Amino acid sequence: MAGDLITKAITRLIVFIYGVFTIILYGVLSIKKGSFFKRRTEKQNLELQLARDRLWNLSKDYAGLSHHFLTLPSGFKFHFVSNVTPGSPAALKSDKPLVIFIHGFPDSWAIWRHIASSPSLQDAANVVAIDLPGYGGTQSLERYTATAVLEKLTELIITLRSQYGVDEGSEVNKEKVVIVAHDWGCVLSMRLAAEAPSLAHRFILSNGPLMSLVESNIRRMLTSASKMFKSALSAPLSSRTPLLQALRTLGPLLKQLRMSGYVFTMQLPPSLVTFFLTGGNYSFISAVHRGSHGRAEFTSRDEADSMASSMGPSLAESKTQTANGDKYPTTIKYTHDFANVMNMAGYYRDGASTARWQKSIETITSLHSIAGGNELRRTSSGAGLFDDGTPGVLKANSTVFWGKRDIALNPPICLDGMSDYLVADSQIVMLPESGHFTPIETESRVALVKAVEWAIHGEQGNIGSAIQECYPSAKVIARR
Ligand SMILES: *[C@@H]1O[C@H](CO)[C@@H](O)[C@H](O)[C@H]1NC(C)=O
Ligand SMILES: *[C@@H]1O[C@H](CO)[C@@H](O)[C@H](O)[C@H]1NC(C)=O
Ligand SMILES: *[C@@H]1O[C@H](CO)[C@@H](O)[C@H](O)[C@H]1NC(C)=O
Repeated sequence: MAGDLITKAITRLIVFIYGVFTIILYGVLSIKKGSFFKRRTEKQNLELQLARDRLWNLSKDYAGLSHHFLTLPSGFKFHFVSNVTPGSPAALKSDKPLVIFIHGFPDSWAIWRHIASSPSLQDAANVVAIDLPGYGGTQSLERYTATAVLEKLTELIITLRSQYGVDEGSEVNKEKVVIVAHDWGCVLSMRLAAEAPSLAHRFILSNGPLMSLVESNIRRMLTSASKMFKSALSAPLSSRTPLLQALRTLGPLLKQLRMSGYVFTMQLPPSLVTFFLTGGNYSFISAVHRGSHGRAEFTSRDEADSMASSMGPSLAESKTQTANGDKYPTTIKYTHDFANVMNMAGYYRDGASTARWQKSIETITSLHSIAGGNELRRTSSGAGLFDDGTPGVLKANSTVFWGKRDIALNPPICLDGMSDYLVADSQIVMLPESGHFTPIETESRVALVKAVEWAIHGEQGNIGSAIQECYPSAKVIARR
């Protein structure tokens, strides 16, 4: 018991030290680059204001997408954009598939602005791009525990299904639901695909870690490294080979730790986290966005749009309203320039990725009712309502896209062995030219549009060849 407490205290101390070290490191780097003390120019501030109006003014459409709110039966208010008004006759009687886009850190619906505005997608589907709780124009949560976040997200998806007429009519002609997700959206959607697979017919998932796989890869590396250390200790002092081998085994883990420094920073006391995310005129988030455009030019418009995507509505937009008079939740502090930073950090701090999701009775009942005939099949395959099967296995059809140059996720930790976590009719597609921000980078966003089109048009033919039409070096590296 006491030993346990000591281990916990030491772990906390290491996390603290590494978190503080990372703040200092990033601070020094941005001071050296000159971005820390750089004042925003008048022109930059004006561009940002215009971008916030473009993305967040509720009375404006963005390339065929208009702003909407849904208040869930539990009273929680979500903001999203869509090409079709939810609950309208057009939506309820629609026979089009429903495509739901879910963003990650530090973004909002607006990271999908290029993809969700595709006219061919808007013609063929009801397109919805949401703000996660605490981001953009969606209400915030007290804490971002797995249960709090996944319950809200599930309730939203079930409500969207009914508002867009998915579950109308008989079992056979249900419209298809496709969930497309990136980064934290991907982490959460992988949990939905594993723990609530009836929510969608296909999940398209990009550049977010599958946490159960990450944990198992780390455990495997630690076990084999500790065996090697033991044999190194018993070997004669002159032979250093086993010791080097052990260190080499840990290499990918150490590399991942280096890439994940900011995750440790998120665990520090709130004032330090706020400083990290906003200090030096947002030099950390600016740097993330600057790196998000791959090798394409990062224009001043890109800079303004991506910053406005992170910051959400300002005081000016908080006074606007949608066509039917709906407004942003009153709980957001619009007077702060960047009100939502501690919400963003909350996902890292409160265990949303790994802690147990305790489903409410309402959630279990709704999932059961949308699953219809599929439930029996799932139960008989050992993955039913009361039997979760192997932890973390994605039980829904999934297509994973991996931008190979991701600077936040090391493949030996985050990708190796993933095919063991997929069911039949799933694939992993490698995008060798792309980095972490696949919804934004020019080549990969075209590939993602292709993938969604493939999914909503009946999944005809081979997804690899479909993607290669627009992204020749794309490669299906695993298939189930
Ligand atoms: C950030 O920019 C504002 C002007 O836009 C300036 O007043 C402020 O001093 C800057 N902060 C830092 C740390 O450079
Ligand atoms: C999974 O994909 C296969 C092949 O496209 C399809 O036949 C099957 O119906 C899909 N499953 C679900 C639950 O949509
Ligand atoms: C929002 O957009 C409307 C319509 O374009 C415009 O009239 C209004 O001034 C804008 N509101 C704000 C606060 O910028």
